[in-house]
Amino acid sequence: MQAILDELERRKNAACLGGGIKRIKAQHSKGKLTARERIKVLVDEDSFEEWDMFVEHNCADFGMEDKKIPGDGVVIGLGKIHNRPVFIFSQDFTVFGGSLSDAHARKICKIMDHGLRLGIPLIGINDSGGARIQEGVVSLGGYAEVFQRNVLASGVIPQISLIMGPCAGGAVYSPAMTDFIFMVKDSSYMFVTGPDVVKTVTHESVTHEALGGAVTHTTKSGVADLAFDNDIETLLATRRFYNFLPLSNRDESPLKPTNDPINRLDYALDHLIPENPNMPYDMLDLIVKVVDDADFFEIQPDYAKNIIIGFGRMNGSTVGFVANQPLVLAGCLDIESSRKAARFVRFCDCFNIPIVTFVDVPGFMPGIDQEYGGIIKHGSKLLFAFAEASVPKITLITRKAYGGAYDVMSSKHIRADINYAWPSAEIAVMGPKGAVEIIFREDIGDKDKIERRTEEYRQKFANPFIAAHYGFIDDVIMPHQTRLKLCRSLELLKRKKVEQPYKKHNNIPL
Ligand code: HXC
Repeated sequence: MQAILDELERRKNAACLGGGIKRIKAQHSKGKLTARERIKVLVDEDSFEEWDMFVEHNCADFGMEDKKIPGDGVVIGLGKIHNRPVFIFSQDFTVFGGSLSDAHARKICKIMDHGLRLGIPLIGINDSGGARIQEGVVSLGGYAEVFQRNVLASGVIPQISLIMGPCAGGAVYSPAMTDFIFMVKDSSYMFVTGPDVVKTVTHESVTHEALGGAVTHTTKSGVADLAFDNDIETLLATRRFYNFLPLSNRDESPLKPTNDPINRLDYALDHLIPENPNMPYDMLDLIVKVVDDADFFEIQPDYAKNIIIGFGRMNGSTVGFVANQPLVLAGCLDIESSRKAARFVRFCDCFNIPIVTFVDVPGFMPGIDQEYGGIIKHGSKLLFAFAEASVPKITLITRKAYGGAYDVMSSKHIRADINYAWPSAEIAVMGPKGAVEIIFREDIGDKDKIERRTEEYRQKFANPFIAAHYGFIDDVIMPHQTRLKLCRSLELLKRKKVEQPYKKHNNIPL
């Protein structure tokens, strides 16, 4: 019997060595951890149960019949993060460059199927040279099997992709269809075609990092959500992030008890809005001041900065925040910010996460680029997302809510449950100056008259009371009471149930 036990031990040790010491050293020399080291950082101590450690490829071409490495370039299994289960796959670059064979794909599909059936999220750690070249079309089929499961799992379980090495060609589409993508600076990249192909086709010279590195995708393309300095930072942030999410669309988010009282009044908020309506202020201050323990996990902080999205907790429960940021482009909605916020709102709606929206928006961004770029279609994504969302929705207008942007930003008319305004709110078709220049065009030469008319318009509309008169605003609140009002409303709205009309699925303007 001992010999049999020793044999198991020997096989496991061999599998854990992956592509061997030399390749592990090469991985470390690039500042990267190995597939198993990454899992160890990601999960609770001793919680990982590895599956399919002895799976090998079946390829007999190009000399592959003699090259078999147990596990075939991907580690899969079930672990725990803060004592909650998670399925993980972690590609092992030391084995055939982490390339995806038929066997490798079947391993990933196995945990995706389990995750979907059991309602347990998936974290995929990507570090791969792409399709296993020796296997040809079989490997392409493997990718498509993964893609199909990404789609089936979308909206059922949260899917998170960590890009910790190469991710190129069609391989990028699996992470792209997951809910969140975190990347590591300088050691990961994502692109459909690499710098060499770009050079041949378009004669542009570009480095891997500039074309598809973490900074590019978190600042320019918006493909990725967050960029981190190294593997450890990425994995630890993922642990923190995971704690905000429910296991599936059938579960509530985990409750994190807090000592932060719900009736904590913050008088500094009474002075957040500057006297001058054209002066910016930092909307992040408001979010950080109202959430439990000032703990806010911002997503895409470096992309479309005119809107803020992210998760915080109110009285222990996860809440998704969407907020215009007056510091950037005066908080205008444009193509990028609309797309960024729309996808976030839809994520929250899939997973029963209430949405709190802070509004200070002078309108949609004017411009030829915006119109040619399809602001109509992209702006309507956000409108559609807010309108379809049936989770609890609370809106607070802090200052401007002008024009179509007022409607879009989770207004009462698109089924927000509770709408608050601060006394500084200005809710109107447009700003007083623009309005007067249109309706009193004949007086434009007369500065005094225009000033008088502008003040008259401001008095009439640049306040929350007309909207409150119509019941579009449920209450005008003191800024210092904001946390209390939000916490109480969220507690009440836990009882919310919405009947939706039957449909196969909707047709959001893509
Ligand atoms: C088989 C691969 C491989 C692949 C790398 N390797 N990619 N084996 N299939 N796709 C192997 C290498 O032969 C090498 O083996 C080991 O992995 C490490 O690779 P290196 O080249 O030494 O590493 P590095 O210098 O870091 O370069 C990494 C790399 C490069 C940039 C990823 O390996 C590369 O360009 N690979 C090919 C990428 C590619 O064209 N893939 C197909 C894309 S198309 P040894 O034994 O020497 O250690 C695709 C389509 C998906 O993926 C479509 C889905 C719909």
